Amino acid sequence: MLDSLERLPDDPILGLAAACRADTNPNKVDLTVGIYMDEQGTCPVFEAVTLAQQSILADERTKAYMPPAGDPDFNLAMQKLVLGGDSAALADGRVGSVQTPGGCGALRIGAEIIQAAAPGTRVWVSDPTWPVHIPLLGSVGLKFETYRYYQPADHSVNFEGMVEDLKRAKAGEVVLLHGCCHNPCGADLSPDQWQVIATMAQQQGFVPFVDIAYQGLGDGLDEDAVGLRTLVAQLPEVIIAASCSKNMGLYRERTGIIIFVCKNADSAAAVVSQGLVAARRVYSMPPAHGAIIAGRILAQPELYALWQRELSAMCERINGLRTDLVSRLNASTGRDFSFIEKEKGMFSFLGLSEAQAIALRREHGVYMLNSSRINVAGVNAANIDYLANAVASIL
Ligand code: LMR
Repeated sequence: MLDSLERLPDDPILGLAAACRADTNPNKVDLTVGIYMDEQGTCPVFEAVTLAQQSILADERTKAYMPPAGDPDFNLAMQKLVLGGDSAALADGRVGSVQTPGGCGALRIGAEIIQAAAPGTRVWVSDPTWPVHIPLLGSVGLKFETYRYYQPADHSVNFEGMVEDLKRAKAGEVVLLHGCCHNPCGADLSPDQWQVIATMAQQQGFVPFVDIAYQGLGDGLDEDAVGLRTLVAQLPEVIIAASCSKNMGLYRERTGIIIFVCKNADSAAAVVSQGLVAARRVYSMPPAHGAIIAGRILAQPELYALWQRELSAMCERINGLRTDLVSRLNASTGRDFSFIEKEKGMFSFLGLSEAQAIALRREHGVYMLNSSRINVAGVNAANIDYLANAVASIL
């Protein structure tokens, strides 16, 4: 039986990261997978995480299973982090959540709930979107439609096109939105544009499903949640998948949450019960370690303050790199890369063709996705000139 299976191609993101690791070129530059890297090119552990972890090791008395919905302190603290401590939906008790294995687990449980409520629902996804959205949601049975989002010609959001396309989203259909730091393009909606989407959802009856994997890596923890909070303030139902992979650096701990904002408390309880059955069917219960770390950081004021400082420093470094990249690329190529400075979070497209991205990899050991998506955090003082010259040489 197993012998009949074909070998599949490598994952377009993780496969390139592995190829880069295996490359012996001493000048290689890894701009592939979305992990934060510091000036030394390492993905550091937050000091706040180390301290929380030490206290967990001192206190831990059991490795018994987590409750099916995960750590209750983590759930509540994450609801507040995402929705805001003053959220009316929270005060009204119409929010339910389930801790999940990473943001991917959250997307999957969200998809299971949508499929349970309305099998084969059409989900509108941005063009482009994170490629894993499609198999994650599609393998449950959901269907897709794309809406225009990023306009390569002028490196910006095509909001008119987006609105025109989403006018066709019907009541009960789902619109998947990137909460902030759009992956792959880094181009985000403005607060006014979020308001337009909220009004459309209200009038047309579609349900927003917000994937917020980078809260705190754009303009700040609250600023990055403005869009989804606008939706939650005005709509009866919003689904949110959140992750601590990036903003706490807990990538390998698989720490995420699916949050359901529902019409009322009874509906929230019903949805959570469905989420628990879906989780049991797929992986039973979530892993403990990352959620307990995150729960402690969010609950203890000193750890929280330390974490916020560390996160802000990361953000500042990324934004500084964006500025440096623009000046080096402009100087080496004579082209205008100023759009990079307007984008948010870890990613931007360089605007290169697939052939150019492959040439950069083969000829210079500069690894970016074939779409020319780069992880800006992979740039540092030691590789920025090499990168800028390599790009100039393939144009
Ligand atoms: C990425 O887009 O690089 C990250 O979200 C990591 C992943 O799992 O693809």
